[in-house]
Amino acid sequence: MAAEIKNLKDLQNTEYSLNKLFDEAEDFLPLLGTDYVELYVGNAKQSAHFYKTAFGFQSEAYAGLETGMKDKVSYVLKQDKIRLVLTTPLQEGGKINEHLSKHGDGVKVVALWVEDATKAWEETTKRGAKSFMEPTKEEDGENSYVVRSGIHTYGETVHIFVERKNYTGVFLPNYKKWESHYNPKPVGLKYIDHMVGNVGWDEMNKWCEFYANVMGFAQIVSFDDKDISTDYTALMSKVMSNGNGRIKFPINEPAEGKKKSQIEEYIDFYNGPGVQHIAVATNDIVHTVSEMRNRGVEFLYVPENYYDDLLERVGNIDEDVELLKKHGILIDRDDEGYLLQLFTKPVVDRPTMFFEIIQRKGAKSFGKGNFKALFEAIEREQENRGTL
Ligand code: FE2
Repeated sequence: MAAEIKNLKDLQNTEYSLNKLFDEAEDFLPLLGTDYVELYVGNAKQSAHFYKTAFGFQSEAYAGLETGMKDKVSYVLKQDKIRLVLTTPLQEGGKINEHLSKHGDGVKVVALWVEDATKAWEETTKRGAKSFMEPTKEEDGENSYVVRSGIHTYGETVHIFVERKNYTGVFLPNYKKWESHYNPKPVGLKYIDHMVGNVGWDEMNKWCEFYANVMGFAQIVSFDDKDISTDYTALMSKVMSNGNGRIKFPINEPAEGKKKSQIEEYIDFYNGPGVQHIAVATNDIVHTVSEMRNRGVEFLYVPENYYDDLLERVGNIDEDVELLKKHGILIDRDDEGYLLQLFTKPVVDRPTMFFEIIQRKGAKSFGKGNFKALFEAIEREQENRGTL
């Protein structure tokens, strides 16, 4: 059952309030926002170059041999409120290499910003979460420290709770400021709107219950295979949100169709559940998308006839339809307003992780009206890969 939203205005703003929006959500795990997203990648130096050049991220911090880190290297990139960490091992063997071999480049950590990382760990493990990292104080000079703790979620993905109220340094202890002469301009990405997890057959409810019971989240939307199916493939999805609406995690599972579900394709290539896409918000999607396309980002192609009955479907919009058509931007409307969105092709070689660019103009939903057009676009890609 979808929870009732108390204050719709809060969901329309870039800055979500900390007020509780969803009655069903519980308060034992206050989350202030997404702190960072860490990807394990094969070559962090080159990935960092890609995210700077193509996505407009800025050089923020670095840890590696030069900062006393012996076995791995991490680059931290920032754009407004979004922080990406790209990590590569420096030696053979070990957990990161295993992760890379099994999953390819992908999201390992979805870190959540909290007031109290010790309490976050205690409350979640008490409710059944498997510990990934006990509360650990990391110091960086006098009176400057971070406390982090972590729990496992779907697949080999983890949540790390980050408490930084007593921290004055760069990103985390053992990192230094990353100074670079190469600083391409930001493209207008603002914050992470939601992050989607793909889980296996019949596992969606289990993981939604995990977010409800272990983390106090509320279910705000549910789509069944009738909502999300084409002639060929299907999936099911439920959206879980924390109490203040800052953290939203849709969870997808494959559903039976005539051909292979895109979720199943993901799971085959990722070798298990994982983060499917990171949705990042912008205030000007036309600018953001045209900038990214110019810088080499590939987006899913939307057939031109998608725009034929657009205004009948979504009503009046502020944007020039011809401009949206030129950039292949999708539009959907719900009771509160509308949203504009577009999806990249996978940003890695395996058909796994991709990004969504989203601009909300009142709408708090996830583009249900676009699912069919979108999935048909994904199927064309699957067909090219011979995995449909
Ligand atoms: Fe999305």
